[in-house]
Amino acid sequence: MIVCRDACFTLHTAHTSYQLCADEQGRLLHTYYGARLPDDAPNLRPTRAPHAEAGRRLNLLPFECSAPGTGDFRTPAVLPEYADGSLCADLQMVGAQVTPGKYELPGLPAFRGAEQTLCVTLRDCAGLEVELRYAVFPQHDVITRAAVYRNTGAAPLSLRKASSLCLDFDTRPLDMITLHGKWSQERTPERAPLRYGVQSVGSMQGVSSHAHNPAVALCRPDADEEHGDCWGFALVYSGNFLCEAERSESGNRLVMGIHPHQFCWTLAPGESFVAPEVAMVYAADGLGGMRRCFHRAIRAHLLPERWRDMNRPRPVLLNSWEACYFRFDQDRLLALAEAAARAGIDLFVLDDGWFKGRDADNSSLGDWVADVRKLPEGLEGLCRRLQALGLDFGLWIEPEAVSPDSDLFRLHPDWALRVPGRTPLTLRNQYVLDFSRPEVVQALWEQLHRLLSSCPIRYIKWDMNRKLSDVYSAALPADRQGEVYHRYMLGVYALQKQLTEAFPDLLLENCAAGGGRFDCGMLCYSPQIWCSDNTDARSRLSIQYGTSLFYPPCTMGSHFSIVPNHYTGRTASVEARMACALFGTFGFELDLTGYSPEALAELRPYIDWYRAHGALLRGGDLYWLLPPDAAGSGAAWMVVSPDRDEAAVFAVGDALCGVERASTLPSPPPRLPLRGLCAQSVYEDADGVRYAGAQLLAAGLPLPTLRGDVPAYLCYLRRTADPRTTA
Ligand code: GLA
Repeated sequence: MIVCRDACFTLHTAHTSYQLCADEQGRLLHTYYGARLPDDAPNLRPTRAPHAEAGRRLNLLPFECSAPGTGDFRTPAVLPEYADGSLCADLQMVGAQVTPGKYELPGLPAFRGAEQTLCVTLRDCAGLEVELRYAVFPQHDVITRAAVYRNTGAAPLSLRKASSLCLDFDTRPLDMITLHGKWSQERTPERAPLRYGVQSVGSMQGVSSHAHNPAVALCRPDADEEHGDCWGFALVYSGNFLCEAERSESGNRLVMGIHPHQFCWTLAPGESFVAPEVAMVYAADGLGGMRRCFHRAIRAHLLPERWRDMNRPRPVLLNSWEACYFRFDQDRLLALAEAAARAGIDLFVLDDGWFKGRDADNSSLGDWVADVRKLPEGLEGLCRRLQALGLDFGLWIEPEAVSPDSDLFRLHPDWALRVPGRTPLTLRNQYVLDFSRPEVVQALWEQLHRLLSSCPIRYIKWDMNRKLSDVYSAALPADRQGEVYHRYMLGVYALQKQLTEAFPDLLLENCAAGGGRFDCGMLCYSPQIWCSDNTDARSRLSIQYGTSLFYPPCTMGSHFSIVPNHYTGRTASVEARMACALFGTFGFELDLTGYSPEALAELRPYIDWYRAHGALLRGGDLYWLLPPDAAGSGAAWMVVSPDRDEAAVFAVGDALCGVERASTLPSPPPRLPLRGLCAQSVYEDADGVRYAGAQLLAAGLPLPTLRGDVPAYLCYLRRTADPRTTA
């Protein structure tokens, strides 16, 4: 619900409220974001500091969209450059409107299906207009916010910075939590108090990156997983971003949006620039409460329509990469597929190496036709044979890349990003196609369309294996090169949109050298993203834990793989590897051809378990009972169905289930206290053992003692109608 009164606005969700209000000079101030207020709660305008003359006062005010050069000396959200060279703005509110439904952001990914939109228009006397757009998702306690920048003046103006969010908090201390990482160790949470000055995370890699994620949380210093005030912000964007947190005498400010690095967008009179949206959550019940709000909202409002229903099964897939790498032919693939079919797998994904001349990572990207040396019957023939085995077919592709050794590059050398007069950098032996050019996107569309029309391809893994360098487009004039990074992202989004609309049954999984582009932008087109190339169970615990601070488990591509692990050389029990794969989308990535019939049969119960409980795992509420520790000695989590009728509990690691416990570890709890269940109900496990909900919550679930490397315990609980208790 959105309430407007006297230039003051309150956006209410079920448990939160957000307030903004224009002051006497028309400056739009942020006045509150926190626990739900009464429907008609007044806006508390900031009190005027004693003796503060007008100029000084501006630097103390909480602005809803901060601009530089006119008295606010903190981090600006927007930086316009007018034709006369001036770099300032003083934004005043000129109008506001509430409309039903959700605002649109042409060309950009966005949450869908909001109840109401508020648009507040601000204008600077020299012509910059900013339309702040807000949408409320009351049920999920999410508010989205975006900005459209318009030139209402008579001369062109350039945007040197055009952020999506500016949010001012009072002076009380806050911690910031960010997700940092690298290839094979993505999204590790880091928490630190906001210091005086500016702290920032961002990406200048052209992709949202392994290094930092475009989602951050602020929380009170005493907030933990289940208690305390937390605010979360997830940018719905997959390219360069910057998130700046500034602590000063005036309070704490957060500014988030496209990175100003190599960004400069020129607006002719009348033109607009649409900045991506940010999804915001406030939760009073800790980081767990915050993450569950994001999970529910992303599932219900961001994922592509077709995959939003958590009852819709996702295929259990086997990916050929770790089984074959580049070394395969049709016979080898079919042997692998036969084993997959015997284990009960649904879909066979042919990873890298299937196209013309591709025997290593040094050629052929851009030439998306099957290599007849390896696949004499083409993709059509392979697909037919897979279907005969009862398997669906999926394919890997890297549309944004081009190899110097490819027909596409030989034909169109100017289609790669490159700076005139310089030799472009190769990373993984490849260049990046200039997706800022519509004709390049169109050419890729034609190739993809041909490919997907040639046989029933049910799944595409869209990879992107390098960062952008040499960012310069042959198609744009010198003074518009500051638009290339963003136009590139618009090209990627346009192609993913076109693809998923033309092939509505297609399951798209994004990937970027593992999890280098795991963000809300990608999730608008693909309901799952490959989380990391590292499938080691202990590494995955921490990667998936960090990722789950914002992104729901059903979006995390996670596969069961072989031991010793190909990347880390470590071992872990079958149960631990299965638990980590079952956390997310559940698939396989290993050579099953050497598996005996008995060994294949051992995989089957897990696949059956996933089929039986997939809706719970995908659509349930996630509770971290014990976050993974740095030593990888243990972690526990559970998923509870929204109606609290069902739960799945996972405990992994020596610290919880091992018989041999390292002496340095604290004694493990004999029981694992659960969360999210109904205290008044009785729950029964798969062996018929009954527990009172209150017992499970307070005393905990008894854990067995197990043997082996990284043992794990999985338990399914169902609410019984019969109130008899045992245990
Ligand atoms: C990337 C992906 C892997 C695999 C390879 C293929 O590294 O993350 O899963 O697809 O590319 O080259």
